[in-house]
Amino acid sequence: MVNIAIITYSLYGHIDILAKAVQRGIKEAGGSADIYRVNETLPEEALQKLQAPPKAKDIPVVDKDVLKNYDAFLFGIPTRYGNVPAQWASFWDQTGGLWVEGALEGKAAGFFTSTASYGGGQDSTVKNSLDYLSHHGMIIIPLGYKSCFAELSCIDEIHGAGPWGSGTLAGPDGSRSPSDLELRVASIQGRKFFHVVNRLTSTSKLVNDTKRKKVEGNQKSPTQKELLEQSKNEVEAKKKATNPNDCCAVM
Ligand SMILES: Cc1cc2nc3c(=O)[nH]c(=O)nc-3n(C[C@H](O)[C@H](O)[C@H](O)COP(=O)(O)O)c2cc1C
Repeated sequence: MVNIAIITYSLYGHIDILAKAVQRGIKEAGGSADIYRVNETLPEEALQKLQAPPKAKDIPVVDKDVLKNYDAFLFGIPTRYGNVPAQWASFWDQTGGLWVEGALEGKAAGFFTSTASYGGGQDSTVKNSLDYLSHHGMIIIPLGYKSCFAELSCIDEIHGAGPWGSGTLAGPDGSRSPSDLELRVASIQGRKFFHVVNRLTSTSKLVNDTKRKKVEGNQKSPTQKELLEQSKNEVEAKKKATNPNDCCAVM
């Protein structure tokens, strides 16, 4: 079973609500996902001035090394000036060690966002987070239209979300709650993401298994004599590589 983590930042709770809807979708599809949040970097005084409610108690703070334990991620990011919040950037700035190890290479990721207003930058927020993922060699799985064309193309009501991922509109004062349509799209995204990641993972496992079996099938076990000959050759090659006289002789 594929291991999925939903990693978020939320100041006023909209992303937290979407995260639960995305998680529901993953569960409906037969999977499971753990929700985390990145560390808050604003001081308490600033949070009070911004009238931020206390953080959801059931969402633990993620440590960068936790990323190693998961195959795939859904990232929930509220927009700041069309971009990612500083808290989000600060989290990724701690992942240099993971980058050196290539620990996230080939892991899959999708996005969901929240803005105050329509046209406030849901697409640009996702696009501005692609650099982090591409440097880590991750695979981006957008929402697309196929599984929620009716919702995404609906013009009867104002709503967040688009082909990059689900989204909500918080309103200029943050008082709007995610609508039924937005929650539905978030769940669809969870379901679709799980199916795609599951398919990718099982396909690659299948390919690896098939390759491995083919290689194993084609290989005869070497005889003792062949092994001895092979190790003699290796020792000779090492000696040559470290002998300065041989080196001069070549020159
Ligand atoms: C400093 C700051 C910058 C923001 N910039 C934008 C913006 O560019 N576009 C927009 O629509 N909303 C903007 N917002 C509103 C947030 O995106 C909104 O509060 C957030 O999506 C709500 O999600 P949350 O409840 O999970 O924190 C901004 C909010 C803050 C505090």
